[in-house]
This record gives sequence, C-alpha cells and structure tokens, in this order.
Amino acid sequence: MPQIGMGTFQMTDRPVLEQRIKDAINIGYRSIDTAYVYQNERLIGNALKELFSENITKREDLFITSKVWSNFHKRNSVMNAVKLSLNNLGLNYLDLVLVHWPMAYREGTGTTRPNYTMDSNIDTDTTVVETWRGMEDIYKKGLARSIGLSNFNSEQITRILRETQLKPTVNQIEIHPYLSQEKLVNFCKSNNIAITAYSPLGRADTELFNETVLNDIAINHNKTVPQVLLRWLIQRDIIIIPKTTKQERLIENFNVFDFQLTDDEMKAIFKLNKNKRIFAKSESSNNREYPFNIEFK
Ligand SMILES: NC(=O)c1ccc[n+]([C@@H]2O[C@H](COP(=O)([O-])OP(=O)(O)OC[C@H]3O[C@@H](n4cnc5c(N)ncnc54)[C@H](OP(=O)(O)O)[C@@H]3O)[C@@H](O)[C@H]2O)c1
Repeated sequence: MPQIGMGTFQMTDRPVLEQRIKDAINIGYRSIDTAYVYQNERLIGNALKELFSENITKREDLFITSKVWSNFHKRNSVMNAVKLSLNNLGLNYLDLVLVHWPMAYREGTGTTRPNYTMDSNIDTDTTVVETWRGMEDIYKKGLARSIGLSNFNSEQITRILRETQLKPTVNQIEIHPYLSQEKLVNFCKSNNIAITAYSPLGRADTELFNETVLNDIAINHNKTVPQVLLRWLIQRDIIIIPKTTKQERLIENFNVFDFQLTDDEMKAIFKLNKNKRIFAKSESSNNREYPFNIEFK
C-alpha cells in the first residue's frame, strides 16, 4: 500500500472530483481512499474509466480502498455492501476494504442515511466478530485483495484476532498532533497491523495551523505547516490520506518525501497532543460497539 493516498471525504462535486483524480494520478498518487457512505464512488469510477481508456494508468498500478458502512454489518450483508461499491466504482476487485466503524446500525441498502442517534436504528445484536467473518468471506471470494478496520479500539481488535481466522491488515484512525494516538499505534504495530491516519491535517484546523512550534519547524525546513504535519506521520511509519479539492495542494501534500524532521522536532510536535477528537461520534456512544469509551481509544 502506498504511504500516501488521496482522501475523498465530502468530495461530491463531479467536475472537481473527476479533475482532482486525474491531477492526482499525474502528480504521482496511486492510492485513493473512498467509502460507500461518501456517495462519490460513481464519480471516482467515471474518472478511473477515462484514465484507463486513455492509457494514462492501469488498474493494477492503483490501490483503491473503500469501506463497508454500518448498516451492512451482518455477515451476509458485507458481501452486498462490497458488491455495491464495486459496481459504483466499475471495478471487479478492491485493493483494501475496511469496516468503516465498529458500530452496527439497522439494515438498509439505500445511500440515504437514517437518523443514527435514534435507538431504533441501532443494531444491538451484531458484533464486530460477526462483521469480520463477512469480511473474511469477501477476501476469500477475491473481491478484496486485503481487508482491514477503521475506528477500532484495541479491545475490539483483540476480539477479532482471538476469535477469527484472518488478521486485519490496517486500522484507519484519526491522527494529527492534537490526537497523537501513541498507544493505539503501538498496539497495532505490535500486532503487525499497519496504521492509516485519517484527518492527517486535522481538517485544516486554524488553531493547529497557527501553532508556533509547527510554524517554526516549517520555516526551518522551508516547508509549509501542512507538509510538516504529514512528515510527522510519515516518520512514524503511518500511511497518510490527506484530502483537498485544489490541484496546488495535491502537489504540496505530495512533496513530503524530501526532508527529515529531527528527533527534537518530532518530540515537540508530540507535545501538542490533547486527545482532541474531531470524529467523536458521541451520538452513537450507547451502541454496544462504540469504540471511544475505553482506554487505548
Ligand atoms: N475512516 C474514517 O472514519 C474517516 C473519517 C474521516 C476522514 N477519512 C478519510 O481521510 C481523508 C482525510 O481526512 P479529512 O478529509 O477528514 O481531513 P484532512 O485531510 O485532515 O483535511 C482536509 C482539509 O484540509 C484542507 N487542506 C488540504 N490540504 C491543504 C493544504 N496543503 N493547505 C491547507 N489546507 C489544506 C482541505 O481543504 P480544501 O479541500 O479546500 O483544499 C480540507 O478542508 C478523508 O478525505 C477520507 O478519505 C476517513
């Protein structure tokens, strides 16, 4: 899996998304992160189709990730979810499929999102172990070259490792200097599970971007603050998937492999941690598989 990929959350404007996919491939990105629930798989599929037909890139040179949404968590539904994503994307396999969140919601196949804060929409029976068995099925069918998790805590990962056959390859979690996730990263690494950082730029949080320490480090290296944020993750062996709607930022975010932060700079960035989560999903905190109620979150 390439260490950098293109994030696509909230990119649903057709001309912008299609053009940015093409730009990304031209710049050198080979990995694209999407999800069924982002409702942009079809647009990404259209752009890929054009890139393939114009011989600009080949399917086998790309790494495409999608995710199974929470209302497809029963073992047999996982297959349906992945088939819908493949159909949307116009592909016959995905390089990586993730369980998007550990919580299960009631079944439903549409793209519309019910109000998940309502208790009636919570699926109280389905566990992450059942869902993972469905993930094993799609891997064995060849629909996914690899299978992984997103937003899973250490206790949930432990249950999967103990009770199922195939190991998750990746856990995709929120990481930026305000949520450094040292414990969960170490836990996953000790189990040979790779980490992908989502929201690696902290969603361009102004307070984060204005941190003096980050600005000083950026000046030292003649780089920008977003580049320092991404480099801090790369030096932790973490995969990054920054999202942008702008061509010049796609280039900026890709140019992070030609400089090195010192140990002191790495440590100074770690000191910014305040366990501040952007995607807390607190409306789902009464779900049996809500991941953020325990330590090692
Ligand atoms: N698994 C999950 O539950 C989950 C959750 C969230 C996200 N994700 C994935 O992770 C990807 C990245 O996370 P994210 O989209 O939440 O946040 P992010 O990548 O941390 O930040 C995106 C924001 O940063 C801005 N930006 C990007 N590059 C910039 C630059 N060089 N300078 C200044 N601003 C810049 C973007 O604005 P412009 O677009 O205007 O440039 C956008 O507002 C998502 O797109 C998605 O694929 C997964």
